[in-house]
Amino acid sequence: MSIQTIGVIGAGQMGNGIAHVFAQSGFSVIMQDISAEFAAKGVATIDKNLQRGVDKGKMTAEEKAAVLGRIQTTTNLEDLANCDIVVEAATERWEVKKQLFETLDRVCKPGAILASNTSSISITKLAAVTKRPEAFIGMHFMNPVPVMQLIEVIRGLATSDATYATVMELSAKLGKTPIACNDFPGFVSNRVLLPMINEAIYALYEGVAEVEAIDGIMKLGMNHPMGPLTLADFIGLDTCLFILNVLHEGLGDPKYRPCPLLKKLVDAGWYGKKNGRGFYDYRGEKPVAAVKIGG
Ligand code: CAA
Repeated sequence: MSIQTIGVIGAGQMGNGIAHVFAQSGFSVIMQDISAEFAAKGVATIDKNLQRGVDKGKMTAEEKAAVLGRIQTTTNLEDLANCDIVVEAATERWEVKKQLFETLDRVCKPGAILASNTSSISITKLAAVTKRPEAFIGMHFMNPVPVMQLIEVIRGLATSDATYATVMELSAKLGKTPIACNDFPGFVSNRVLLPMINEAIYALYEGVAEVEAIDGIMKLGMNHPMGPLTLADFIGLDTCLFILNVLHEGLGDPKYRPCPLLKKLVDAGWYGKKNGRGFYDYRGEKPVAAVKIGG
């Protein structure tokens, strides 16, 4: 199947990154969000991130303008009727995604692929709310989308070989490396990543070391680009808690229980970098630890 026009649902951190990489690879993109203001904010972020490339001489101002010119925005899902594939990157809530996919299934042309960027909701369960489960698949991009090489491609129980082949080929056209896995809670990426982050939070909670020491040991000792507590703040502590709850409930093993300190920070509304405070406080000139040993 020839893919030319891409729908992207959500103009937030992941949605605008997904729209960015598709437009940069020459595809026409329609990015939908619930308000024109959110959509405009998403385009402003894409503009800012493309400017990094212009400033470094990796892209001309004309090329940047051409990429932005390939992105349209809308608040109306009906405008996605002619898209060849729609990649959903809306809020990570079952009710929101269920309703979106019911509508997209009704609105999108026959044969169009529906993909979700969910980090942990079952692809098989989402596919089942549509009448096209064979054309449903997970396309899990990593944050920051323009930088990260991986697309974790998740096959639902009913995903057809044709849908899978189209999405693998499309991912490669973005200059990314798609790697496939089956549909189980957390897929591979978050099943392995989140227990490590949770363990780092337990190490803080149980008084093993301070925030900077835990991050420094993992960053320098394991050659990770960010320590696990910085990474948790970067992902969003609310998202980390959500994914751990999916692993805990979905796999039924107590080893996935979220650390009480993570729950406490989320209860306080400290969601990490996106709203100024998590394990670190980002409101000053440079981040400083916001949580003491033991929490
Ligand atoms: N858009 C475009 N380019 C960006 C960018 C963005 N949002 N953020 C960074 N960059 C570019 C920079 O311009 C820079 O480009 P050059 O190499 O051409 O100079 C490059 O990326 C490196 O950026 P910086 O020099 O600013 O900073 P850095 O070297 O510290 O790297 C980082 C920043 C790429 C975020 C790095 O710290 C990193 O890889 N961190 C780990 C990220 C990670 O693990 N992501 C996965 C999270 S889990 C997830 O997403 C899945 C889930 O479901 C939870």
